[in-house]
Amino acid sequence: MNALNRDLKKLTQIIEEKEAGRILKDSYALKFHIMPKVGWLNDPNGLCQFKGKYHVFFQYSPFDEKGGLKFWGHYTSIDMIHWKNENTALYADQPFDCHGVYSGSALIDENKMYLYYTGNVKQVGKHDYVTTGREHNTVMVVSEDGKTFTHKELLMTNEDYGSEMTCHVRDPKVWKEDNMYYMVQGARDKKDRGQILLFASEDKIVWKVINKIQSEDVFGYMWECPDFFELDGQKVLLLSPQGIEADGIKYNNIYQSGYYVVEGDITTSEYALSGFEEMDRGFDFYAPQTFIDEQGRRILIGWMGLPDIDDLYSNPTTEHGWQHALTIPRELHMKEGKLIQQPIEELKNLRSKVVGLELKENNTKIQLPAHTFELELMLETLKKDLKIIIRKGAVLEYKAEEKVISLIFDECGYGRDKRSVQIEVVKNIRIFGDTSSLEIFLNDGEEVFTSRYYPSTEENQIEVEGIELNGKLNLWEMKAITIEN
Ligand code: FRU
Repeated sequence: MNALNRDLKKLTQIIEEKEAGRILKDSYALKFHIMPKVGWLNDPNGLCQFKGKYHVFFQYSPFDEKGGLKFWGHYTSIDMIHWKNENTALYADQPFDCHGVYSGSALIDENKMYLYYTGNVKQVGKHDYVTTGREHNTVMVVSEDGKTFTHKELLMTNEDYGSEMTCHVRDPKVWKEDNMYYMVQGARDKKDRGQILLFASEDKIVWKVINKIQSEDVFGYMWECPDFFELDGQKVLLLSPQGIEADGIKYNNIYQSGYYVVEGDITTSEYALSGFEEMDRGFDFYAPQTFIDEQGRRILIGWMGLPDIDDLYSNPTTEHGWQHALTIPRELHMKEGKLIQQPIEELKNLRSKVVGLELKENNTKIQLPAHTFELELMLETLKKDLKIIIRKGAVLEYKAEEKVISLIFDECGYGRDKRSVQIEVVKNIRIFGDTSSLEIFLNDGEEVFTSRYYPSTEENQIEVEGIELNGKLNLWEMKAITIEN
């Protein structure tokens, strides 16, 4: 398809008809997560709160559940519980973004919403080379109402990123600080070194590279989806690096997502990065993005999926014409140099109580009334092994001697079997179970496991098994979020 031949009106109509004609008969369709109306979803984009409303844009391929031409899908909400599908916001319809409106971010400034993204262009015949064949353009659009957007303004092309860069420079994240505007973009240089380019601008339009942010030793060949912010007095750089070898129980997914704590000033050479920390220990977490809401909270949403998924397993939802979802929104904090993630308070509105009990037995079995639940375990002391068996197929297992906690799947993992993390003590566990996903928060969000899973719909039992267990257990059925179309 040639970009210039794309009739935008027709395209809009086809997508809207496809979405409207959708009757989802998939028992794995999620109830309290944002998923694509049809087709494929990946990275969260343009997260912000603008004039009171939360905006979630995302990478959207409505025509193909295995991914393909990317647009920006768009949902809005006043409380992150009641959502509205605003329909596709940005289409790949210009010569500089004709092969995909790739990832980017929102800046709220002077009462307007500015969206920055990467316009992806594959040159004919040779777009798979690392150094040539692909244009990654930086593009901006502006909105006064969060719904209609001005014409797209092309701000930068490959030539503006520096001759030592490959054509892989993408995913602008923009913020304002001391009357200057800053942007980070993920990059791969010609020596195959993943890094971040830092840009500055006085007017949001003319940008210049002012620094490169690199780790001391090479860490992967490409850093995707960077984000940079200050949180509880510390500077944090989020990134999704590619090309990291597995190292024991670390870096077991095809690509990683994590963060560096930054000391010093990133606008100069006087900065230092801490050791890289993975943000999530599950099978499906990538390309997270954050924003500050009007209450001043730093909120994160991630993609509950991974790129190049077909090499890993085949997701059963593709038979039903869709694939992937976003994580629940999480509030971030820094505690003793560690990034903490906690489900946003608003999600408590989805709870309806099922059971609350003192854990004294060595084995507690509870029947779930639905496939969606939140389970909370407050443990007084956990010195012995513990197992939580979820809907027969998924097991969260703590081995006291090794101080390791693992998420283990039987067939419900579709070939993905085990992920683990070292943990000193386990004080509390919160598990958010949707029809086909688990998000497990340990010790108030010190560690998180995010995963899709596909248990038998017949299995509805939670079993808690341990020796000398002492504590409290609460279980809620989770109501669905609403999505108005
Ligand atoms: C991350 C990513 C981004 C890119 C987008 C394309 O998952 O590869 O780097 O902008 O997805 O969909």
